[in-house]
Amino acid sequence: MVATILHGRALAETLRERLTEEAARYAHVYGRRATLALVSAGHDPTAALYAGQVARSCQRIGLDCQMRSFDDDVAEAALRETVARLGERDDIQGVVVLLPLPPHIRQRVVTEALAPEKDIDGLGPRNAGRLLHGLASYVPSTADAARELLRDAGIALKGKTAVVVGRSNVGGKPAALLFLRARATVTICHSRTPDLAALTRRADVLFASTGRPGSITADMVKPGAVVLDAGMNAVAGRVVGDVDFEGVAEVAEAITPVPGGLGPLTNLVLIRHALLGPS
Ligand SMILES: NC(=O)c1ccc[n+]([C@@H]2O[C@H](COP(=O)([O-])OP(=O)(O)OC[C@H]3O[C@@H](n4cnc5c(N)ncnc54)[C@H](OP(=O)(O)O)[C@@H]3O)[C@@H](O)[C@H]2O)c1
Repeated sequence: MVATILHGRALAETLRERLTEEAARYAHVYGRRATLALVSAGHDPTAALYAGQVARSCQRIGLDCQMRSFDDDVAEAALRETVARLGERDDIQGVVVLLPLPPHIRQRVVTEALAPEKDIDGLGPRNAGRLLHGLASYVPSTADAARELLRDAGIALKGKTAVVVGRSNVGGKPAALLFLRARATVTICHSRTPDLAALTRRADVLFASTGRPGSITADMVKPGAVVLDAGMNAVAGRVVGDVDFEGVAEVAEAITPVPGGLGPLTNLVLIRHALLGPS
């Protein structure tokens, strides 16, 4: 194996210690623990996995985590109403809508109902618009975790070629905007991009958020590239990323593993948003 593995462990530990102090300070000042609310609909295994990770991180750091789970057939209006009401509560510091939602629910309708100041995963249009304009906002936590990890590893983006694979509002788009803000030259690719490999092979920094295990293979990566894998896919009881780790690690200079890598940082970044506000 050639690549340095970007575990992000030291960064996660530092962040966890800082957040534990912040959570204690919050509890001291307000006389109660800070609280996150997670809202899910249906039984998507990846969403369940993510919810479990967030709940465990909250417990470890000293936040309360409330779960509102609905069945697959929940009405869009009921989900929207729940999210709106949770966002109005003073005793809840952040609300996260777990994705994906069942097909009959329009994600936009639900995320638009959430008060922007409680939208700690940056899913709604107000935070997305502020991110686009380079203003302080809640940035979707996986993209924010990628920014943190690069900063911690001393990998500068300025002047680099960055390629983002995936154009979702929680993955590819916010990552691309953060990379652009850091003055990388950014290309966004998706499932209809012709000759994807020709573009990804130009990347100094390659960010994958496709939701398809193994969609980035060694032949798609420039030797010496930094590869960030946002993927978190539950496959046969295991978590795997979107990148073919074994193959790509033979070519890349640095790579995030799954599990590990961006995943644990994502939870911590989400909690940081709840305790410390937008950045
Ligand atoms: N670490 C975490 O905490 C965390 C948080 C959120 C998401 N995730 C993970 O990140 C991954 C992606 O999530 P998402 O919400 O961004 O997914 P998504 O909404 O399904 O979007 C996937 C994107 O990837 C593109 N795509 C799919 N297959 C492709 C391929 N073979 N080649 C090129 N592009 C392809 C799609 O293109 P089209 O637009 O053309 O369909 C789409 O833009 C998932 O594994 C998810 O679990 C992790």
